[in-house]
Amino acid sequence: MSHLNEKVIVITGGAGGIGESTARMAHAQGASVVITDLNKDAVESIAQSLGERALAVAVDVTSRDDNERMIKAAVEAFGRVDAVFLNAGIEGEVGPFESRSDAAWDKVFAVNVQGVRLGVAAALPALRKAGGGSIVITSSVAGVRGAAGLTPYVSSKHAVLGMMRCLAAELGPEGVRVNTVNPGPVDNRMMRSIEEQANPGHGEEVHQAFAARIPLGRYVTNEEVAGMATFLFSDAASGCNGNAYLVDGGYCAQ
Ligand SMILES: NC(=O)c1ccc[n+]([C@@H]2O[C@H](COP(=O)([O-])OP(=O)(O)OC[C@H]3O[C@@H](n4cnc5c(N)ncnc54)[C@H](O)[C@@H]3O)[C@@H](O)[C@H]2O)c1
Repeated sequence: MSHLNEKVIVITGGAGGIGESTARMAHAQGASVVITDLNKDAVESIAQSLGERALAVAVDVTSRDDNERMIKAAVEAFGRVDAVFLNAGIEGEVGPFESRSDAAWDKVFAVNVQGVRLGVAAALPALRKAGGGSIVITSSVAGVRGAAGLTPYVSSKHAVLGMMRCLAAELGPEGVRVNTVNPGPVDNRMMRSIEEQANPGHGEEVHQAFAARIPLGRYVTNEEVAGMATFLFSDAASGCNGNAYLVDGGYCAQ
């Protein structure tokens, strides 16, 4: 089988566009996948459709207990953990800085930053036991660029870049590689939500304006992001540690 044969990979946000595509691609490449999300029914149906080597677990990434339960379930089902894809995230509300409430900031940081921290903490013992592994965090072009109206989200995606760089330096000597995948606008639910919030009733116009700023002339797809994530899980990426891998159609090139 192909290049993820016999690897055990745990995925958060597995019911979402990028998470589901990554679970399906990793599974097709021979991995055993643990697909987790707040949305229990959705991950159960994805795991069922994949059959063998797929397990669904309902997980709220903001809970330390849930993160630990997720890793325990992976080890019980498949014996080890080789990679984690810390991908669950929320866009939060779009609007001017001064209109964002404390609760809105807290919610975005709880999922997008603390959720990643708790995922890393839960996974580390299992990754060490496996003799090393790969941690892939979903940041964004919003982790390397600003965007008016998206302060909490952009700040959270910058924060995980800093976390990734520190972890890469700390864990590299143990053979645990840590990287981010940084998608540009993806043709999926999250961008529809951002477009509609940015200009209610005129989401399609916002979409066209965003797409016009991307050299490829379009959003990237869930599968294009999944392609980078599965590469970073694999031994083919054995030299990749401490970097941000953009899948953005050239958005940040100009
Ligand atoms: N869609 C884009 O354009 C885009 C661009 C750059 C980065 N990203 C990032 O990609 C990641 C995946 O997003 P997506 O595009 O697939 O969007 P999505 O909304 O389809 O998927 C996100 C998933 O995370 C889950 N989730 C939310 N809160 C959770 C929690 N507390 N615990 C567990 N699961 C939770 C949701 O249920 C959902 O299934 C996110 O981190 C997002 O910020 C998306």
